[in-house]
Amino acid sequence: MLRILSGIKPSGTLHIGNYLGMIRPMVESQERGELFCFIANLHSLTTLFDGPQMARNSVDALIDMMALGIDPDRSVFWLQSDVPEVAELTWYLNNVTAVGLLERCHAYKDAQAKGISANHGLFSYPVLMAADILLFQSNIVPVGKDQKQHVEVTRDIAMKFNTTYGEAFTLPDPEISEEIALIPGVDGQKMSKSYGNTIDIFGEEKSTRKKIMSIVTDPTPVESPKDPDASTIYAIYRLFADAGKAASMAERFRAGGYGYGDAKKELFEMLWAYFEPFRQKRSELAANLDYVGEIRKKGADKARAVAAVTMKKVRELVGVI
Ligand code: ADP
Ligand code: TRP
Repeated sequence: MLRILSGIKPSGTLHIGNYLGMIRPMVESQERGELFCFIANLHSLTTLFDGPQMARNSVDALIDMMALGIDPDRSVFWLQSDVPEVAELTWYLNNVTAVGLLERCHAYKDAQAKGISANHGLFSYPVLMAADILLFQSNIVPVGKDQKQHVEVTRDIAMKFNTTYGEAFTLPDPEISEEIALIPGVDGQKMSKSYGNTIDIFGEEKSTRKKIMSIVTDPTPVESPKDPDASTIYAIYRLFADAGKAASMAERFRAGGYGYGDAKKELFEMLWAYFEPFRQKRSELAANLDYVGEIRKKGADKARAVAAVTMKKVRELVGVI
């Protein structure tokens, strides 16, 4: 059975770009293999230095992912820091990782280019990520384009370890889904938390409506025909609505007499309805933190049982007895 592994950083608030780009494919992957899915809180520590905030984000992320469809009975679902073996494995991997390999990684290079002095955690971020992947002998790692390089680095590290000490790790393959376009934000640029242009999955009704009504449009008057493919409203709408509804909106754009304001209202209604069942599930979970804690514990136990097998072998190979 294919072992698919996915990690998601607990960022505080998830937006609909995160949902389409990573969460929905992750949820769907539960149908085709054994999903190992975790909240990468240790990775967030490279940039977040507020303990209480970190702790809140981690619990929120557990709840969010369960609400959005991760099934803890079918999948192995855990909080990264609940499996301390990952930190131990990171240390062994550090010693077969060339500094030059990490110097070529985008996140570090970008920080350098911006004149931000990177901490060592950020520099060695890809090694921790390699440990996440290799600890569970993952076959497939679905990632966005931005993370592809990290999976390639993981393969390099795994090969180096395997040739230095003996076969310990499965080589993972990245899986980039090309068809999922980048979702634009309300300003038309890539939707991203760092640009403040997001439509959040679990935002309040009023602020979500306001956000959608603020989508930037051109000054074409209501009566005139409009090009749906040039509009952010339609770009988002068509990714969530069924094909018939999307075609109908495109038709009305082209016909004229249909204003951007109307299209925004329609987009809001559609998105609000789309996420309604998820919101309900989320509020049930948030009101039942004991249950969430139990799931977290069970997930960690399952993950540690798998990790133990890899670690036994690795410790033997490196001579830590
Ligand atoms: P942000 O840019 O908001 O900080 P992240 O970089 O944390 O988002 O992204 C987490 C995941 O969500 C990534 O793997 C990426 O594939 C997906 N993602 C983020 N933004 C978008 C977007 N605008 N369109 C599609 N997928 C996205
Ligand atoms: N680095 C990933 C991100 O920023 C999160 C992550 C951590 C991850 N460990 C992973 C993703 C292992 C896939 C596999 O989005």
